[in-house]
Amino acid sequence: MRDWFKNAVVYQVYPKSFQDTDGDGLGDLRGVTQHLDYIRDLGVDVIWLNPVYKNSGVDGGYDISDYREIAPELGTMADFDELLAQAHARGLRIVMDLVVNHTSTEHRWFQESRASRDNDKRSFYVWRAPHEGKEPNGLRSAFSGSAWQKDETTGEYYLHMFAREQADLNWHEPRVREGVYDMMRWWLDKGVDGFRMDVITMIGKPEETIAADGGPGGDVCNGEKTHEYLREMNREVLSRYDIMTVGEAAGTSTEQAIRYASLDGSELNMIFQFEHMEVDAGAHGKWSDEPLDLPRLKAVLARWQTALHGRAWNSLYWDNHDQPRVVSRFGCDADETCRMRSAKMLAACLHMMQGTPYIYQGEELGMTNYPFADISESRDVEAVNAWQELVEERGELTGEQMMRAIRRKGRDNARTPMQWTAGKNAGFTNGEPWMPVNPNHDRINAEAEEGDPGSVLAFYRALIRIRRENPVVIDGDFTLLMPEDARVFAYTRCDGTHTLRVACNFSGETAKLDAEASFHGGRLLIGNYEDAGAADSLRPWECRVELE
Ligand code: GLC
Repeated sequence: MRDWFKNAVVYQVYPKSFQDTDGDGLGDLRGVTQHLDYIRDLGVDVIWLNPVYKNSGVDGGYDISDYREIAPELGTMADFDELLAQAHARGLRIVMDLVVNHTSTEHRWFQESRASRDNDKRSFYVWRAPHEGKEPNGLRSAFSGSAWQKDETTGEYYLHMFAREQADLNWHEPRVREGVYDMMRWWLDKGVDGFRMDVITMIGKPEETIAADGGPGGDVCNGEKTHEYLREMNREVLSRYDIMTVGEAAGTSTEQAIRYASLDGSELNMIFQFEHMEVDAGAHGKWSDEPLDLPRLKAVLARWQTALHGRAWNSLYWDNHDQPRVVSRFGCDADETCRMRSAKMLAACLHMMQGTPYIYQGEELGMTNYPFADISESRDVEAVNAWQELVEERGELTGEQMMRAIRRKGRDNARTPMQWTAGKNAGFTNGEPWMPVNPNHDRINAEAEEGDPGSVLAFYRALIRIRRENPVVIDGDFTLLMPEDARVFAYTRCDGTHTLRVACNFSGETAKLDAEASFHGGRLLIGNYEDAGAADSLRPWECRVELE
């Protein structure tokens, strides 16, 4: 069965922040192995591992210096093999992060490429001559500043869409593609079960966007060549294995998604779209402090649900290693009652949609953002560079405004250690943790939630069970109800036999439901209050899933 990805639920592990077993303050592969029973007991089928390869320590492992080596700080290849074997023994599959838009500048390929203009590997990267003595064009890096870096050895610029230490590979060079496919086969032959492909929509950059013409550069994502290369990769590698693939796809429309994630299987199984993560962006991009516009969030998700239905496959996510904690972002973390209610409500709202759900470590506990007080506490290159640009160079934001934005949206919120216990360092490490542990681990931790039937953890387990037991969750179509309502997110899923009715209150006040969204007297599959409540309204942060 090649489409097991449709029934799968994925648990994402950021190994560096999951579990330390050797006291160095960094999580490691053995730490993941140690918690495989916990992951299995959630009911998930797949683990997506953030990058575990040898890297240069600039961007959380997304700056790979050797694709076939494990980062020594995370362990050894033997540890990896053991993790894979132990996962498989429990019926869990492992999906690796595939970071092939760029490599670290420490990668052997780049070291050769930069050596001289006529080096055999010069064409492995995107080198351009200066334009009138300056950057080849106006392309900007996602991590602030120009996307071009001058390399003194040859006086030319190389492209880096992310940090300066992450040089973009030139996918138009066939030897690069062959090298990548070869490496992918190597991991697949080892037994890994698929790939999450980092910023994959960027690989086929249109020539005009990377030309040394002094122009603005343009959009490097979703070029026709990206589709061409993915189809090639599919023919050469993916289609030959029983695996799952998901492409990270910022700035991608539903039309594009239907090509990337077509049910005909010609490119990828699904993509991570970003539109629903941009509803609270503003004048300073993600660093703006915009309140959630619920009708907009609903419109975006409903469009993805309906546009892809029957044609392509969705992924479903609120959290990952690049996003803040959803309970702090779209829910409420002001007190325990609203935190638990809203964490459950958000989970139900997402997990009952069509697509493959992804749970990011700690999300199943209702982990929250971290109270960052000062920029010196930020470890993330994105936040540090943005501070430099927006606060120090341009003065567009005050330090206080930027810190507020970092507390709301910074990627470090997701990277504080996993909260296992109420004890020292939340049970994450015996040493000095590389990132501060959230002080709320005394209340929010796996051990405390484990035995509590009313916990967020128990709720996630129940949601996954509901998906397993009700095919309408996998196959049903999607209809948004009450689209304009500013508090209620309600929808139905129908498969001809059953109707699933999902009603969620995204506010701390009681909210009225219209006739269609009201409880119809069917079977209440799950809710986040102990008693039933009124059929035609929802209490603060209430959610209700009804089956008819
Ligand atoms: C993706 C990753 C992110 C990384 C970036 C550059 O967006 O998820 O963590 O910084 O790519 O590789």
